[in-house]
Amino acid sequence: MSARRPFIAGNWKMNLDHLQGIALVQKLAWTLKDASFDPKAVEVAVFPPFTDLRSVQTLVDAERFTVGLGAQDLSPHDSGAYTGDVSGAFLKALDCAYVIVGHSERRQGHGETDEVVNAKVLAAVRHGLVPVICVGETEEELERHGTSAVPVRQTAAALAGVPSGTPVVIAYEPVWAIGTGKVATPETAQEVCAAIRGAVAEALGADDAAATRILYGGSVKSGNIAGFMRKPDVDGALVGGASLDPVEFAGIARFPD
Ligand code: G3P
Repeated sequence: MSARRPFIAGNWKMNLDHLQGIALVQKLAWTLKDASFDPKAVEVAVFPPFTDLRSVQTLVDAERFTVGLGAQDLSPHDSGAYTGDVSGAFLKALDCAYVIVGHSERRQGHGETDEVVNAKVLAAVRHGLVPVICVGETEEELERHGTSAVPVRQTAAALAGVPSGTPVVIAYEPVWAIGTGKVATPETAQEVCAAIRGAVAEALGADDAAATRILYGGSVKSGNIAGFMRKPDVDGALVGGASLDPVEFAGIARFPD
């Protein structure tokens, strides 16, 4: 287990309207209030669709000690004629602490390049949001380049221009494990997360690398989280499908020793 405070993040993707989101957070908060969960020991946050943020924020404020709030994306711009974009300033005004940047579903689905991802990371930092930077190889990249080359390249590109001392989170999400049930082994996650930590050290310095939390994402469930959490360079998980079930997600957050 790493020395950093574990972080369990739930990416709802395009699921749950604002009423369903309220119901999930209420159930999650009550389930986590169970004595076996120590909110000081493990950080939990949910990343709802934009339309849910205001509603979920009112609940998260009430449950502040249990569940934090993040957004799933942001504009690289701060304001202006960018129809459909959402400014980091607006997310900060809704008490978002985090924002996902560079998810493979935006890199593949919306053509987001390393340069776009970096611009979004810099926008997040400008607005005081902690970017959760997603990196990971596709099946084809795995065959051609091995496990670490692409995540390391993506990490370096995402952190260009980010000052040392800036808090960031990196999420290693092998694209071939997202939504497929094909989960990476804890050993592979350790190997890649250690390589990513090296890239953070190159970009931000050794102290920042030691402090940066690096998550694994890709078919995480309550039944497989413990193996990842035993690895020294894996500090938590970015959970998709399993975060839509509050009891399952709480089971991930209370990962057994
Ligand atoms: O951002 C987390 C997500 O990509 C992982 O999805 O459903 O494989 O847990 P899932």
